[in-house]
Amino acid sequence: MADLTVHVDGMTLPNPFVIGSGPPGTNANVIGKAFDEGWGGVVAKTISLDASKVINVAPRYARLRTSESREIYGWQNIELISDRPFDVWLDEFRQLKDKYPDGCLIASIMEEYNKDAWVEIVERTQATGVDAFELNFSCPHGLPERKMGAAMGQDCDILSEVCGWVNEVATIPVWAKMTPNVTHIEDPARAALAAGCEGVSAINTILSTMGVDLETLRPEPTVEGYTVPGGYSCTAVRPIALRMVMELATMMHGGNSGQPIQPDGRVAVRGEFPDRSISAIGGVETGEDAAQFILLGASTVQVCTGVMKHGYAMVKPMCDQLSAFMDKHGFKTIEEFRGHSLRYFTTHAELVRLQREAKEAAQAERRRKMVVEDAQWSGDDFVDQSDALSRG
Ligand SMILES: Cc1cc2nc3c(=O)[nH]c(=O)nc-3n(C[C@H](O)[C@H](O)[C@H](O)COP(=O)(O)O)c2cc1C
Repeated sequence: MADLTVHVDGMTLPNPFVIGSGPPGTNANVIGKAFDEGWGGVVAKTISLDASKVINVAPRYARLRTSESREIYGWQNIELISDRPFDVWLDEFRQLKDKYPDGCLIASIMEEYNKDAWVEIVERTQATGVDAFELNFSCPHGLPERKMGAAMGQDCDILSEVCGWVNEVATIPVWAKMTPNVTHIEDPARAALAAGCEGVSAINTILSTMGVDLETLRPEPTVEGYTVPGGYSCTAVRPIALRMVMELATMMHGGNSGQPIQPDGRVAVRGEFPDRSISAIGGVETGEDAAQFILLGASTVQVCTGVMKHGYAMVKPMCDQLSAFMDKHGFKTIEEFRGHSLRYFTTHAELVRLQREAKEAAQAERRRKMVVEDAQWSGDDFVDQSDALSRG
């Protein structure tokens, strides 16, 4: 029977499934529900010191559905971080840690570009007993106008400085949540890890415009006739998240990316941060989805939009599906297959070379089979059989 336990950055989770920051972790009630249902951990909705500056609008979601089954596969939001007061959050973190001492509770925090503010939010939040921090450097809408969220995550110098401030005072593990709205996600990740973060989380939502209403000619979601680009999530983003997690894992843990395959099967590129962790996020709804992220190097897998579609109980079938995958392949622990598939990424030139070699090998095999006893020559294969006996 597969063991789903995850040991990451000194924490132990009963399974790799973690609630991603957002509506499913928006207050103590729903976070408690997640622990009751068996989630391995919860990243709470992002908080800041002064919630009065956070003003949400409605509607703030827009969704894409398949035309026949009407299944939701794309979700855009223009929701901000939590608008609930910081002190209320601190009380709720304390209550949650009292009630669920073994539950892995991760506080997602965000502040302006100001050392005192970051030091204050870290010190006051960790005093509640939360298990880890996730630094939100990735919210793509609203907050960047205040130089927060993705505005920080897109600037490696600021990111490095802020992670340095946080790690000077943090006594618990720190994950930096990366924005996908960059050309090379490894660059900000490298900056955060070099500044002492224990891990990275990826991805946050992808900057998007969901569509334009062809009756009103207004883009969606429409607020008093206007909109802003928002963040795209759900099933549709999973391939992009998988690619970015692969790139992060290759940079951190090693892989072949950009290099020829080594004859002995070793990976070509050594990792820069082999002992740091990845929490993968983006379009996960099943245990099979999660298995793919783990195969590409993730220790934990977060789910946000999936919970908004299916509810907290989805963790049980996800655990069953992941166990079934592990049993099928004989993997007893998560660690046994984490990062296994990274070695299969290479360059396009290598794909061409491999394919040429495979074709040549198949041709040689065909020729070998054509060489038969004289008595077995047939009129049908006569030309091929003659050819097989000639050189060049
Ligand atoms: C409605 C909504 C609100 C979100 N709020 C936050 C947030 O406060 N902080 C954060 O770090 N990420 C936030 N996210 C991003 C998610 O945590 C996650 O990174 C992203 O949605 C991709 O994962 P998913 O496809 O499982 O939703 C939010 C996502 C949605 C859909």
